[in-house]
Amino acid sequence: MTENNTARIDTIRLQRLARAFNESAVFYAAIDLELFTHVSAGADSISSLATAMGTSELNAERLVVVCLAMGLLERGSDGGLVNAPDCEKFMVKGSPRYAGPWMTFTRHEVDDWMHLTEKLLDPSPPTELGLYDDLTVERARKYHAATYSIGMGAGRRFCREVDLTGRRKMMDLGGGSGAYSINAVQAFEGLSAVVFDLPPVTVVTQEYLDSNGVADRVTTQGGDFINDELPSGCDVAVMASNLPIYNAANIQKVVHKTFAALEPGGEMHLIGETLNADGIGPVDAAMWGMAEINYGSGGRTHSVTECIGYFENAGFVEVGNVDFIAGTLTRTFGRKPA
Ligand SMILES: C[S@@+](CC[C@H](N)C(=O)[O-])C[C@H]1O[C@@H](n2cnc3c(N)ncnc32)[C@H](O)[C@@H]1O
Repeated sequence: MTENNTARIDTIRLQRLARAFNESAVFYAAIDLELFTHVSAGADSISSLATAMGTSELNAERLVVVCLAMGLLERGSDGGLVNAPDCEKFMVKGSPRYAGPWMTFTRHEVDDWMHLTEKLLDPSPPTELGLYDDLTVERARKYHAATYSIGMGAGRRFCREVDLTGRRKMMDLGGGSGAYSINAVQAFEGLSAVVFDLPPVTVVTQEYLDSNGVADRVTTQGGDFINDELPSGCDVAVMASNLPIYNAANIQKVVHKTFAALEPGGEMHLIGETLNADGIGPVDAAMWGMAEINYGSGGRTHSVTECIGYFENAGFVEVGNVDFIAGTLTRTFGRKPA
């Protein structure tokens, strides 16, 4: 190998990591100041944005320069500012796809993350429910305003990818706002669903079922899927976005219980942030497991290999795993023999 093609080792990546929190702060400020909403409404220059956001021109320029650099804003063919396609689709307030509540869902953790070293050294034993200990209806309502803003899209995607034609009843474990159930009963005629979640959450679930006009086909059941009995009479089970909250023993336990509760021939889908089969990356999945330290839970990220193992150990057949949202979520599936 000649010197020219020897990979050069430098500090660029490390420097970026040392200041990566700046990017979150800029994104949060852009959301607070409704930057993307103003751009979508036609404010396409620094001066018009300064007026719309209520900042000085200097500060509007600073924000625009960084957002252009981060690829959140772009220059249109006439040189005016436009939103990047994802910001236009998901970050414009008032749009049905507005995902602002989800993008700021973990903002309250900022201070905790800045004390990660102390938390890593803390010898206190974890609790089972972590974040969900002492959950109130009010906290659940705020929490699920955020999960609903992203979950409806995920629920739609699930129904495009999984054909539930002919299925009769779905249990939606940790179903939260009911996003998956709402979409499923709308997409598949004859299907009903039961959202199983902690009792304070089911109060909020009912509000989403009512506002989506599906309360006649989706019911709720309050309980803890680790320790309580699961709904009966279901031929489909979905468990979405719960995985890093729990350790391996508890996930295995829920998968076992779901297998036992399902009708013969029924199917289970476990959607969650998962590590690749070799346990290395993606970063986003790894970070959801790390985030559990902020809630004192015993949760951690699980790999695709582990998830397949939970299903096979429980007795499921035709077990597989596919990407659900590349780089973040995968879907593990299996069928209970008839
Ligand atoms: C991140 S939310 C996901 C909600 C929904 N599945 C979705 O994808 O939009 C996780 C949900 O799991 C519920 N959950 C967590 N642990 C639970 C348990 N042990 N029993 C029942 N529900 C639980 C939480 O209350 C919360 O509603």
